[in-house]
Amino acid sequence: MNTQQQETLQQLLQQYRDLPGGLLPLLHAVQDALGHIPADAIPAIARAMNQSQAEVHGVIGFYHDFRTSPPAAHSLRLCRAEACQSMGSEALAAQLRAQLGVDDHGHTADGQLELRPVYCLGACACAPALQLDGQLHARVTPEKLSALLASCSKEAKC
Ligand code: FES
Repeated sequence: MNTQQQETLQQLLQQYRDLPGGLLPLLHAVQDALGHIPADAIPAIARAMNQSQAEVHGVIGFYHDFRTSPPAAHSLRLCRAEACQSMGSEALAAQLRAQLGVDDHGHTADGQLELRPVYCLGACACAPALQLDGQLHARVTPEKLSALLASCSKEAKC
């Protein structure tokens, strides 16, 4: 971590260390502030929350939304729950594997796009759905997915 990140972490540790059950909110706050939970922050987090490093790693590993590496430029969350599965999300996942060589929890070789499965985006009636850089896209077809991916490669931000 750089100096600014360390200062941010120290502020968050002060804010959450005495909060009962504060580990989860602290981890969310660290990720919100730094974009991820740096590996070298974990010892300080464990000390502040009176937990072992293994316990902190366990919590981070249990929740798929936590990340220990910086995010890619673009984040694609493809819904894999039942309604979206029945409307073609598995075909979209196969398209992503074929077109970009990226699978669940993976990222493209150039680090520009990461793929995360999600289990319902609240858009079941408009399945299949995905979220690209936080924006919901519904009734996604293979053609619409290709267009979204093309927009990512043309622009710095989708
Ligand atoms: S199942 Fe995909 S949005 Fe609900």
